[in-house]
Amino acid sequence: MSTQKAEAPKGKLGVLVVGLGAVTTTFMAGVLATRKGLAKPVGSMTQYDKIRIGKGEDKKYLHYKDIVPLAELDDIVFGAWDVYPANAFESAVNAEVLKAKDILPLKEELEAIKPMKAAFDKNYAKRLDGDNVKDVKDRWDMVEQLREDIRNFKKETGVDRVVVLWAASTEVYVPVDEKIHGSLEALEAAMKADDKEHIAPSMCYAYAALSEGCPFIMGAPNTTVDIPAMWELAEKTKMPIAGKDFKTGQTLVKSGFAPIIGTRCLGLHGWFSTNILGNRDGLVLDEPANFRTKEVSKLSTLESILVPEDQPDLYGHGNDEDTQYYHKVRINYYPPRNDNKEGWDNIDIFGWMGYPMQIKINFLCRDSILAAPLCLDLVLLSDLAQRAGRYGTQRFLSFFLKSPMHDYTKGEVPVNHLFQQYVMLKNAIREMGGYEADEEID
Ligand SMILES: NC(=O)c1ccc[n+]([C@@H]2O[C@H](COP(=O)([O-])OP(=O)(O)OC[C@H]3O[C@@H](n4cnc5c(N)ncnc54)[C@H](O)[C@@H]3O)[C@@H](O)[C@H]2O)c1
Repeated sequence: MSTQKAEAPKGKLGVLVVGLGAVTTTFMAGVLATRKGLAKPVGSMTQYDKIRIGKGEDKKYLHYKDIVPLAELDDIVFGAWDVYPANAFESAVNAEVLKAKDILPLKEELEAIKPMKAAFDKNYAKRLDGDNVKDVKDRWDMVEQLREDIRNFKKETGVDRVVVLWAASTEVYVPVDEKIHGSLEALEAAMKADDKEHIAPSMCYAYAALSEGCPFIMGAPNTTVDIPAMWELAEKTKMPIAGKDFKTGQTLVKSGFAPIIGTRCLGLHGWFSTNILGNRDGLVLDEPANFRTKEVSKLSTLESILVPEDQPDLYGHGNDEDTQYYHKVRINYYPPRNDNKEGWDNIDIFGWMGYPMQIKINFLCRDSILAAPLCLDLVLLSDLAQRAGRYGTQRFLSFFLKSPMHDYTKGEVPVNHLFQQYVMLKNAIREMGGYEADEEID
């Protein structure tokens, strides 16, 4: 992994999003509104956070853009793929996240963002039935057509660089199969053999993006780039990859709150998290095979923060077969709430001499309002990483992700602890700005 200083951006930055739904239209609308001075990009670290540079008397706190050469919001050009033909304006209206007063001033620009035909397979998201779908011979043809879309987008818009962001529906769970996903050669052979069971459409998007010299970000919990074959492709093409699953609401709270329990050496018997959600994401996740993908992602957060093997007295005797605390996550589709997800966490902890206590957290959030700034940060930071010569899994982006990628073939452990992730993020920014990484407490 290179630690070189990032080169300054030249020209425009293309942002191609897979899925023109609630999250991406909210992301686009926010960027366009900010450009016009109609809104503030609240929640975006790249736009607001300050990092300390230098130590002692020399220290100063600077915005990211004053440390590293980030692309400007004015330089972003959007494009998209979706299964449904609605343009970004129609889709933003349908999503009912933003009010008409916030969408109407952007009508012309949003209407101009028309989705290209999707690389789609209904077996991966049974609840979707749009017809804006590519006609493909096999998975390899899917890749070829997507590559052509990217090249055409570059030509038509004249952008200098492109980042591809998956914020489309969660696909059904694809477990890692070393025989197929273990090497690039095997993955390519499976694509050519049209192995529909092991090659999800999202893998075709990722393959196409990396081959066309675009960083690829996986915002859903899909397996896609979390396989050795894709790490190999990212290395070969020298492109950054990041994933999986935007860390927005309940898991953000979990990864910030669990360290309180762990640091204070309190015990945990169980953590029950449930949600109600009524948007199209909720509809897709109502399908058990799609929910399984999300469940695996959401469950992974606690395991590396409160580790039963490290503290058997505290985390080794819950009621999950008496080997560790009981951790359960549920998402319930409930249309009246639309994008306004409500999450409840019940945490059964114990203290001195084992006496039990409870903590309840009730987060009434807005899913896409929380996800939109993450889209912006992930896009700008992966573009930056690419200009700094970084490629492969970008662990410094774990801060933004529920189920951060790590090379399990090398025995790496994912970092889920929010504040450790923040140190990784700050140090990467320092390094890409030509400063030294450090661990001094701010
Ligand atoms: N909002 C959050 O807080 C949050 C957090 C983490 C992850 N996510 C994930 O982000 C994704 C988007 O969420 P959303 O609320 O915008 O969902 P959405 O249903 O509003 O939008 C997803 C869009 O993707 C399209 N799509 C599905 N498969 C596609 C394919 N193969 N190619 C192109 N388009 C495709 C669908 O037609 C739909 O329009 C979901 O996977 C969700 O799980 C969201």
